[in-house]
Amino acid sequence: MMAGKMRVLIGGGTGFVGRHLRAWLGENGYQVTCISRNDGPGCISWTELVRKGLPECVAVVNVAGRNLLEPFKSFTPLYKEELYSSRIDTTENLANLIREAKVKPKVFVSTSAVGYYPPSSTAEYDEDSPGGNFDFLSGLCADWEAAGQLEPELNVRQATVRLGVVLGRDGGAIQNMYIPFFLGVGGRIGSGKQWLPWIHVGDAAGIYAHAIENDHVSGILNGTSPNPVTNSEFTVAFAKAMWRPAFFPLPEFVVNAVYGPERGKVLLQGQKVMPKRTLESGYKFIFPEIDAACKECSVFIPDIKRLQ
Ligand SMILES: NC(=O)c1ccc[n+]([C@@H]2O[C@H](COP(=O)([O-])OP(=O)(O)OC[C@H]3O[C@@H](n4cnc5c(N)ncnc54)[C@H](OP(=O)(O)O)[C@@H]3O)[C@@H](O)[C@H]2O)c1
Repeated sequence: MMAGKMRVLIGGGTGFVGRHLRAWLGENGYQVTCISRNDGPGCISWTELVRKGLPECVAVVNVAGRNLLEPFKSFTPLYKEELYSSRIDTTENLANLIREAKVKPKVFVSTSAVGYYPPSSTAEYDEDSPGGNFDFLSGLCADWEAAGQLEPELNVRQATVRLGVVLGRDGGAIQNMYIPFFLGVGGRIGSGKQWLPWIHVGDAAGIYAHAIENDHVSGILNGTSPNPVTNSEFTVAFAKAMWRPAFFPLPEFVVNAVYGPERGKVLLQGQKVMPKRTLESGYKFIFPEIDAACKECSVFIPDIKRLQ
């Protein structure tokens, strides 16, 4: 196969999920080009991409997005605008470049999040459950998904991964909680009864790879483990993996002080999300259980290669 045909273009490929997907693709014979705000080795900038058009490639993926949970950051209109443009405008840019490309990729994989589903302690959601219309963050997910839709006549397969809370030693939630747990001052968040729709980063990357490689995969895929747990259950599992106690709950008022109530609810409320279509499409989870996922996240020195 020609190199151009094995190339995968990844918007936000420099990030946490993107690094793991790049590592997997590299190991499996693909050539990866990241799209980034900055030029660098193996990267092309968004401006340059728009100027030059889509290079020949087999797949386009978008995992770009400004971090939602930056602590002590006011949820100002400007911050909301950046959350929006870093997700929706980048996805829309890629969709438009695919529309204009003479040689189309086989597949476009975009991203969304479980914030699409309303928080609930009792409901169980799968990819067919309604959502996307009850607050700013759910609307953001709906617009993010809509931005990635391609017209069927383009003949480009399209999939969207609705990611849950991604667990991995080298990024995301674990990176923020590793030191407190290591020091033995970790604990549940709020009541701890809220659902935590978690996924290990090896599986998050694995689902994107599955969507790239398999011609029958399309549509929404929940990027969550088949065994969701509550925040308290996760806390016990992570503390056990770290060989530490976890007696110091993070009270609701502290979460609200650090993140504000609109973002704090991402941590204080949760959704029980099942990856029904993901499993039906044949994806086999590497880390279906929280204990093994936490054990892998508890290592002192992160090593992406160990997950291959
Ligand atoms: N991690 C999670 O638990 C989780 C959960 C649900 C959904 N998600 C979503 O899944 C995607 C991947 O997650 P991740 O944890 O890998 O994200 P990440 O590491 O925080 O960021 C991914 C990339 O987004 C790009 N980016 C950041 N701010 C941007 C901006 N203002 N404009 C354009 N690009 C920007 C950055 O690339 P450059 O610096 O190279 O431009 C960054 O490397 C994100 O969209 C995230 O919102 C993540």
